[in-house]
Amino acid sequence: MSCDEKVDCGRRRLLVATATAGGVATVAAAVPFLASLAPSERAKSAGAPVEVDIGKIAPGEMKTVEWRGKPVWIIHRTKEMIDSLRKVDDKLVDPKSEKAQGEFDPPPGFNPETRSIKPEIMVVVGICTHLGCSPSEKFKTGAESGIDADWVGGFLCPCHGSTFDLAGRVYKNKPAPTNLPVPPHVYLSDTRIMIGENTKGA
Ligand code: FES
Repeated sequence: MSCDEKVDCGRRRLLVATATAGGVATVAAAVPFLASLAPSERAKSAGAPVEVDIGKIAPGEMKTVEWRGKPVWIIHRTKEMIDSLRKVDDKLVDPKSEKAQGEFDPPPGFNPETRSIKPEIMVVVGICTHLGCSPSEKFKTGAESGIDADWVGGFLCPCHGSTFDLAGRVYKNKPAPTNLPVPPHVYLSDTRIMIGENTKGA
């Protein structure tokens, strides 16, 4: 992996985790990380767009990067994961993502059915919309997930139990009111995306 990425270099590797199915996405605390940088680096890291190599994220795995001090998940969904989205629509608060999703407008090419530009690549801010905890990856399905026998994979917030599907859509009867936001992002190539911008030339 080249060191031209704004996140995956040096100490910043601490903030990037590739989690296998059944593993746990590791995101170090953003504040200590930012505090460790020089002021100019800190400002850049806190607000600048982040270019990410997504080519090495295997199907069924996810990568976490930091953007604006927040974890952003990039999930490489398998066909089974994509198919699972339609199975849970009736259990979700906003299955078609009709409510506003935080401060962000959907990126160009956004498909509300999959909440992504490309069906297999999900990009979403990993901060619970209840009180801001970071949910944990729960990609194991069924009873093995420890959630319930019908679980098709997604995320569980450890603070108050909100659950989200593999498109970041929140389940009904949970404290979180809305889906996880999809940040601005654009494809620079098939294997590189820029998070924080909705156009290549922005
Ligand atoms: S912060 Fe996630 S459920 Fe409360």
